[in-house]
Amino acid sequence: MKIEDLKTPAFLIDRPRLKANIEMMKARAQKHAVSLRPHVKTHKTAQIAGMQTSSEAPGITVSTLAEARFYQKSGFKDITYAFPITANKLQEAAELTAGLPDFNILLDQPQTLSAVAAYAREHGIRFNVFLKVDCGYHRAGIDPSKPASVELARQLAAADGIEFKGILTHAGHSYHCSNPAEIVKVAEQERDVTAQFAVRLQENAIACDTVSVGSTPSAMHAPDWRGVTEIRPGNYVFFDKFQADIGSCRPQQVAATVLTTVAAHYPAHNQMLIDAGALALSKDLGADHLGGDIVFGAVVNQPDLKISSISQEHGLITADDPIAFDKFPVGSLLQIIPNHSCLTAALFPLYHVVEDGRIVDEWTPMRGW
Ligand SMILES: Cc1ncc(COP(=O)(O)O)c(C=O)c1O
Repeated sequence: MKIEDLKTPAFLIDRPRLKANIEMMKARAQKHAVSLRPHVKTHKTAQIAGMQTSSEAPGITVSTLAEARFYQKSGFKDITYAFPITANKLQEAAELTAGLPDFNILLDQPQTLSAVAAYAREHGIRFNVFLKVDCGYHRAGIDPSKPASVELARQLAAADGIEFKGILTHAGHSYHCSNPAEIVKVAEQERDVTAQFAVRLQENAIACDTVSVGSTPSAMHAPDWRGVTEIRPGNYVFFDKFQADIGSCRPQQVAATVLTTVAAHYPAHNQMLIDAGALALSKDLGADHLGGDIVFGAVVNQPDLKISSISQEHGLITADDPIAFDKFPVGSLLQIIPNHSCLTAALFPLYHVVEDGRIVDEWTPMRGW
């Protein structure tokens, strides 16, 4: 099957680029002697997670319990659920704990610790638990500078029914950076804040085996991971316009695009209609902190075209200069690099895997909660 035969909009994965991205991150982890536990929420497929892991490095990170169940069924045996657990999810977490050799949860609230310990006591099970640390993103996690944070770790380590696994952070503020030099600073902060907190725990006689960090920009630019044992990037398998814009990757590394059809020309408004709207691209604004026009993706090989507005299924392309409509006949195809590939991928029930212009495979991601 050729790309031209696909129904649009369609999600395309460039297989050689995907493979290269996966090998590149494995090599970075190996070079710096850290374990790679990729975050698989970017694609939610068994196939790509299989390419990212090996018998020596089997661990993955997920963002929902439904993903954890899907990967359990797909044969994965070492899973970290990297969203703070809540009491209403403990039964499901307990089932996963019982059904997997390694299943890890995380928390950052004393009330949650009480709920986890009470559930474990009542049901006679033992949860593997990480303490979530805020390294500067301020989305979730304890403040490592506060004595109360060491106290929470002490309680975790001492609680019956809890195996304290270590500390875990995510430098999501690496996405606020504008260039590689700024990303290096965030990567160093992510490394230093967590490694220093681990030392503080050890000084307080609290064993902290795993020190886990990870975002794609910081994983791409960290000069080293001294004091860290594990990294958890996810987006790097596909990259996207955001990563290229902030200098996290090169544009030639982006492995995911959306195929769309030109549906209409409107010369009076210097506009073209495409069949990729918000439900094909997502409404992620991309790296809007860099300034310039807000666009909802980049058209491959057509830097003058701007995806300037989208509604549910409609996308509108404009340009500063008059569009050369003859170059893009109604019915012709365009490929769009998404602003944020994780959100874009999540909108498609099927991925088409492309090599040399041909569809060589089709992968079905898991969906739902
Ligand atoms: C807790 C956690 N770990 C790891 C990641 C992976 O980061 P990225 O998407 O930058 O690869 C994320 C992404 O949001 C995350 O929330």
